[in-house]
Amino acid sequence: MKAHASQLEDRIHPVDRPAAATARACSNVALVKYWGKVDEVRRVPATGSLSITLAGLTTETTVAFSNRDEPDLIVLDGRPVGGREAARVSAFLDLIRGASVQQDRPVGAASVRSVNYFPTAAGLASSASGFAALAAATVRAAGMDTDPDTLASLARLGSASAARSIHGGFVELVPFQRAGGDWDARTARVATEEHWDLRVLVSVIDSRYKPIGSTPAMARTSATSPYYGAWLDSWGADLTECREAIAGRDLERLASVAEHSALKLHALTTTSRPPMQFFRGPSLEVMHAVWDLRSSGTLCAFTADAGPNIKVLCSPDDEERVRSALTSVNGVQTVQATTVGGPVEIVSHDVDPTGVWGRGKARGGGDE
Ligand code: DP6
Repeated sequence: MKAHASQLEDRIHPVDRPAAATARACSNVALVKYWGKVDEVRRVPATGSLSITLAGLTTETTVAFSNRDEPDLIVLDGRPVGGREAARVSAFLDLIRGASVQQDRPVGAASVRSVNYFPTAAGLASSASGFAALAAATVRAAGMDTDPDTLASLARLGSASAARSIHGGFVELVPFQRAGGDWDARTARVATEEHWDLRVLVSVIDSRYKPIGSTPAMARTSATSPYYGAWLDSWGADLTECREAIAGRDLERLASVAEHSALKLHALTTTSRPPMQFFRGPSLEVMHAVWDLRSSGTLCAFTADAGPNIKVLCSPDDEERVRSALTSVNGVQTVQATTVGGPVEIVSHDVDPTGVWGRGKARGGGDE
């Protein structure tokens, strides 16, 4: 982690005095899924993935650094958080504090306020938009800047899927091995948000939080599912097919590969010991509704993460027909439609007007 973090630190440079910054990031849903890690500490995925950014599901995060050495204040959706949730955010802030010390302008404790603008009761709170917004706001609040690829690598250290939310449009995240043997991952934008006007309809079936976190769930799968080897062998072909389907705006092909990838993931979790079955009854009914729509000539495709809610892609022209089919499935609470979203953005940035920032004893640094 240390060596990796300092490689990133070298790619972040000072531009301003530290202050406060607010960033907004969209969530994303993978069409080719990541599941499993080759390096848990650095959150390097074991498989490549490719996502579509979701415009209507955003997180806005404000980070303000002080020069004091005290605990961070972390407020999520208006609620001060502690414990593991806060520790995960503070560990992330420490990476930027490390860069700030290296650049002789150390920042201290942070106040972090994050709000999810997700459809009501959707149960879709996402670490992807959360850590993408946190990464962008933290770097700017520390008076620094960097390129989107470095920002994506930073966001990945908070949550792997967050790396994809930095770029917007259609984005892949692919693991690779460095010359020394260490694993790393790189992001690439496959297509912009303007490339393909798609609708993503989120069928909300259960709005409660997931019973198990992604990291332990992935570890259980890689240790116990007999199909994990096949999963590792097959993602490359899925990624190529998905890239081609997006380039050709071919929804039929996209449906085939996206559903295949999602169902393989759920086959893995179902065949883990003990099993993890994320679908509820209505999840299966929604999949059947999608297949019925397709056999009657309406092109659409589903995908599902580690939870019961199903996301359905279709063209804008078919949105109402698909929405009405999904709404009529028993057990579907709401259907929320969204479009393809853009990259993370800094929505405000205030440099301390008094210029006194940085005087006194800062965490990890000396007097200025
Ligand atoms: C099923 O990115 O939430 O959504 O890296 O442990 O934070 P961590 O996991 P996370 O896992 C996402 C898994 C997935 C598939 C995907 O988004 O590719």
